[in-house]
Amino acid sequence: MSDDAFIEPFRIKSIEPIRWTTREERGHYLQDAHYNTFLLEADNVFIDLLSDSGTGAMSTLQWGAIMRGDESYAGSKSFTRFQSSIQDICGYKHVIPTHQGRAAERILFNVMVKRGQIVPSNTHFDTTRANIEFVGGIALDLVIPEGKQPDLIHPFKGNLDVASLEKIITRQGKEKIPLVMLTVTNNSNGGQPVSIRNITEVSDICRKHGIPLYFDACRFAENAYFIKLREPGYENKTPKDIAREMFALGDGCTMSAKKDGMANIGGFLCTNDDVLAQQEKGLLILTEGYPTYGGLAGRDLEAIAVGIQESLEEDYLKYRIDSTAYLGNQISEYGIPIVQPPGGHAIYLDARAFLPHISLEQFPGIALVNEIYLEGGIRSVEIGTLMFGKEAKMDLVRLAIPRRTYTKSHFDYVIEVILRVWKKRDRIRGLKLEYEQPFLRHFTAKLLPIA
Ligand code: F0G
Repeated sequence: MSDDAFIEPFRIKSIEPIRWTTREERGHYLQDAHYNTFLLEADNVFIDLLSDSGTGAMSTLQWGAIMRGDESYAGSKSFTRFQSSIQDICGYKHVIPTHQGRAAERILFNVMVKRGQIVPSNTHFDTTRANIEFVGGIALDLVIPEGKQPDLIHPFKGNLDVASLEKIITRQGKEKIPLVMLTVTNNSNGGQPVSIRNITEVSDICRKHGIPLYFDACRFAENAYFIKLREPGYENKTPKDIAREMFALGDGCTMSAKKDGMANIGGFLCTNDDVLAQQEKGLLILTEGYPTYGGLAGRDLEAIAVGIQESLEEDYLKYRIDSTAYLGNQISEYGIPIVQPPGGHAIYLDARAFLPHISLEQFPGIALVNEIYLEGGIRSVEIGTLMFGKEAKMDLVRLAIPRRTYTKSHFDYVIEVILRVWKKRDRIRGLKLEYEQPFLRHFTAKLLPIA
């Protein structure tokens, strides 16, 4: 096999048809969706790269485990299996199931963050930022300067700038900083990994000041594999050992099991702190459910218990990282600007460089997302000015890859469509915003192309 090749380490047992549409049809669908691809009907999408969240294929072992789901209201065997599978990897004392990642975030910040307090991170994801702001906190992104340059190659562009963290703690006082977060991999910043060295430095600073460190651990397995590939001294360790080492440097985590939990729904919140856990379980009961199911069915807990272990298998991780790199490298070979190097779960097109003639107020990322849909029925997502407003440091278009779902020929089709869009980029126009909500406006915004 050539350097760039990859092969799927699975065979297909069950298929789901996808539907061709014409360019003309897609024009109508996009208009009906107010030029916001979140508002499209999924049946009108041929290849859906909107998200890698909850969109993956489960394994035969996961489907098998689902059948033994124990649906007891309290104390189910499925919860015990869920808890021990997670503790086997992250080692935290309390494992609190939630219906997805943002529920874990909401509970964590409600319990830990007071109005005016600051939560530094490498880069907060949109739901994390919104949940901090909703309780009156300030979400602060402190990614290293290399992380802000899309075309710069660096092995760990997701790292947090430790000098800035020290400065903030000294200037604001540790009372103002209830916790520090690290997002692994750094989704809003190109799906870039964070090194163990950086995590250790952040952990040392946090421990010195008595500030808890939490991981936003959605893609912890992909991050562990990047450490194995790129960090000296880790080449002979297993992804699970690396993940365990990482979690041991923190005090807890939030997790969306829809990513490296390999499940279609679910999440959890972990902590070593008994008092916090009690408060968190109190809130959980209020809105999510009893602490042994947290808004999930017993069968969902089973799917996660099996899936989170599968996410650490080396054959799978090799295919996962190689296939994403294949997509990114093939696209960038044509000179198309992407965030370099390719991330773990997604390729990010640099929309500001792709469409330099479109000003930021006219949403270059959305313009590119829409053109990719029109050209080939492929749905992607903007991570830029519509999502983050003026806070946006880049305008990226993310091609997120569902786990174990699409084959190499699907990837080749995506590459062909992106190339066709690149060739006609001069003719692509910007958009104006017609309607927005105060929080997470990108999900429901309505736009109009500028004539
Ligand atoms: N943190 C990160 C880094 C995420 O990527 C996500 C979700 C969440 C938290 C929230 O988890 O969706 O289960 O509530 N990211 C999805 C995405 C939506 O497409 O990147 P959730």
